[in-house]
Amino acid sequence: MKTKRPPLLALLSMAVVLVTAISCGTASRTVVVPPEVPGAKFMGSESCAQCHADKTKHFASSDHARLKALGENAANVGCESCHGAASIHISSGGAARTIVNPRKSPEACYQCHVDKRGSFSLTHHHPLIEGKVSCADCHNPHEGRAVKGGGTSLASSDETCFKCHTAQRGPFVFEHEALREGCQSCHSPHGSVNQRMLTERNQLLCLKCHFQTQTAPGKIIIGGHEHTDDLPRGTCWSSGCHEAVHGSQINRSLRF
Ligand code: HEC
Ligand code: HEC
Ligand code: HEC
Ligand code: HEC
Ligand code: HEC
Ligand code: HEC
Ligand code: HEC
Repeated sequence: MKTKRPPLLALLSMAVVLVTAISCGTASRTVVVPPEVPGAKFMGSESCAQCHADKTKHFASSDHARLKALGENAANVGCESCHGAASIHISSGGAARTIVNPRKSPEACYQCHVDKRGSFSLTHHHPLIEGKVSCADCHNPHEGRAVKGGGTSLASSDETCFKCHTAQRGPFVFEHEALREGCQSCHSPHGSVNQRMLTERNQLLCLKCHFQTQTAPGKIIIGGHEHTDDLPRGTCWSSGCHEAVHGSQINRSLRF
């Protein structure tokens, strides 16, 4: 199998630029249409404090508290940008079905994060539409960084995943150092066209970090071992090769 690394890398980085451009475009929208609560008016975030002090207290530290809307819309942006207008909710003293709870439906998030509706519709996705997972399982709406554990420490962002996927936590006798860079170095957490929500469907997933060299025409070396006859057999993690891709108790080469 011949490799053409440079053009491929160029293509990949182009894709990255494009994706970033799109996501910035949607995230920096300032004029928003909050979820609709028929007949209700906007009251402003201060009005929530008397009954939901726990949610308002640390809201200033939240990624979403930095949202600003233009002009007369300004008061609307805050709690009600996700929960919808609250006048009926407040005057009824918090009666059932008077306010939007995004735990029950991601629609409130999709209005600003339009691209996520697409990601969760891809063939392989976290079962959000199916109601088994919600945006809030992985994201903090009310406090601090919206990506849990994001920013300073990727290792702790993996804690979010371990809540539900305990098998990948280890400890392993033979760790795969790739996991230190976060689950998202191999998985697209929202959804992907590839099985297991992988970011790549073939050996490119692994060759991002493991350099492939050709010592003689057609002779392929990866990680110091000849792989010439192995690559055509399937992906690196199937066909009896590196099946213990998250870490192994018995094999340094992550075979089982
Ligand atoms: C007069 C008191 C009061 C005020 C003011 C108030 N709420 Fe509530 N709210 C309640 C009560 C009571 C409940 C139901 C019990 C609970 O979940 O705490 C509730 C529940 C909720 C729920 C959960 C609803 C569900 O279906 O699960 C959300 C979301 C909510 N409030 C948001 C807000 C927002 C946003 C504001 C400000 C714009 C606000 N509330 C102002 C009393 C209030
Ligand atoms: C980025 C969107 C977003 C913003 C902004 C937001 N919330 Fe929420 N809120 C959510 C989500 C998602 C849930 C459901 C998950 C949860 O309970 O944490 C929720 C749940 C709630 C609940 C119900 C909690 C329960 O126990 O069922 C209340 C009350 C609430 N929010 C109040 C507020 C208040 C008050 C503010 C402003 C200070 C606010 N929210 C701002 C997204 C948001
Ligand atoms: C009113 C529009 C709006 C709504 C509704 C909204 N968001 Fe956001 N969200 C934004 C904007 C704008 C940013 C970028 C904020 C920044 O970087 O300062 C953002 C940022 C984020 C981030 C990324 C933070 C980071 O580290 O880059 C996550 C995750 C997120 N939102 C999740 C959600 C979820 C989950 C919901 C629904 C519960 C939601 N958002 C609802 C506008 C919105
Ligand atoms: C299974 C966990 C999980 C669920 C469920 C989830 N996310 Fe995320 N999300 C992540 C992780 C992890 C990241 C950080 C990805 C990275 O840094 O590469 C992220 C990043 C983001 C970002 C910022 C970067 C970007 O891709 O734009 C936004 C916005 C976002 N998520 C919105 C949402 C919304 C809206 C929902 C629900 C419709 C949702 N997420 C559900 C795990 C999840
Ligand atoms: C709230 C629980 C929950 C959280 C948190 C969570 N997941 Fe999941 N995950 C699920 C469920 C449920 C499925 C679907 C499993 C199934 O269909 O058998 C799934 C499926 C997957 C799959 C595909 C498995 C398969 O068999 O195709 C991968 C990969 C995955 N999750 C990775 C992650 C990563 C990475 C994170 C952290 C960013 C994460 N998950 C966070 C619940 C969760
Ligand atoms: C080096 C790349 C890589 C990293 C990093 C990675 N995974 Fe995976 N993961 C894979 C591959 C490849 C598969 C498919 C294995 C298969 O189909 O046999 C997979 C499969 C899965 C599955 C499906 C069940 C299984 O084991 O086959 C889950 C769940 C999962 N990963 C969760 C995670 C979580 C959680 C993290 C972070 C702690 C993570 N992965 C980090 C490559 C990775
Ligand atoms: C995010 C970067 C990254 C990705 C992606 C990645 N790896 Fe790794 N892998 C590492 C690092 C770092 C090491 C430890 C240093 C080394 O041996 O190169 C390692 C070690 C290994 C080892 C052990 C080598 C030995 O003999 O000690 C195997 C086998 C391996 N990786 C297979 C895979 C496979 C298969 C994939 C694709 C599913 C993959 N890796 C994807 C970073 C990565």
